[in-house]
Amino acid sequence: MRDSLIAGNWKMNGDLASATALVDAILAGDRGAAEVAVCPPAVFLMKIGGMLDGSDVALGAQNVCDRESGAYTGEISAAMLKECGCRYVIVGHSERRTLYGESDALVSARFAMALQAGLTPILCVGETLDEREQGVTESVVARQLDAVVERCGGDSLGAAVIAYEPVWAIGTGKVATPEQAQAVHGFVRERLAALDADVAARVRILYGGSMNPGNAAELLAQADIDGGLIGGASLKAADFLAIAQSV
Ligand code: 13P
Repeated sequence: MRDSLIAGNWKMNGDLASATALVDAILAGDRGAAEVAVCPPAVFLMKIGGMLDGSDVALGAQNVCDRESGAYTGEISAAMLKECGCRYVIVGHSERRTLYGESDALVSARFAMALQAGLTPILCVGETLDEREQGVTESVVARQLDAVVERCGGDSLGAAVIAYEPVWAIGTGKVATPEQAQAVHGFVRERLAALDADVAARVRILYGGSMNPGNAAELLAQADIDGGLIGGASLKAADFLAIAQSV
């Protein structure tokens, strides 16, 4: 039995006042049975890590450097994220892949660094609209997973969380149907099972892409959907809590 995870990816939104108000509301609210995590902008991690200390709400970062330390201007190391109190870090979000040119190889290197530091990577995979229309969704997702397996081994995914985020559903209000999402989640789990059945049974696969209080229950009811990586709806405490309560 996999414990569900509802993680909020705040992206580059808000300010310190809104971030702390959101955390206060999440801590005070009913989070249901789900494990809950928040991934604020990096500059707020230290402050929010302090607020979450002693609570059962986990802290996550939105990216991590692929190197340990040194002359990498603008990057943040896994050790620094640990010091802020992070348990999770998102790697390979489609906004990083498409807007900032992160390759499968770079994503895998970031993933490796997170694992080495004892962080749990949330590895994002997913196809663009064009790729879906060309019928290559599975091969795109397979390529993104295989890059990590080649670098870190099949076991590594057992210490990670995977997020299936169809790029066409991110921030668009267009959500994958429960059947479309389940089909890809099932494919991811089968692909992992071919490498290691235990890892496949244990790994949590989150859905991301316009998940909201209105569609969460149906998505979360699917056999291979173990939670959500929530963008826009994670910025409103009431919506985020309602999603957590639908687990
Ligand atoms: P939205 O929920 O805003 O579509 O964003 C999803 C996402 O990218 C989470 O990482």
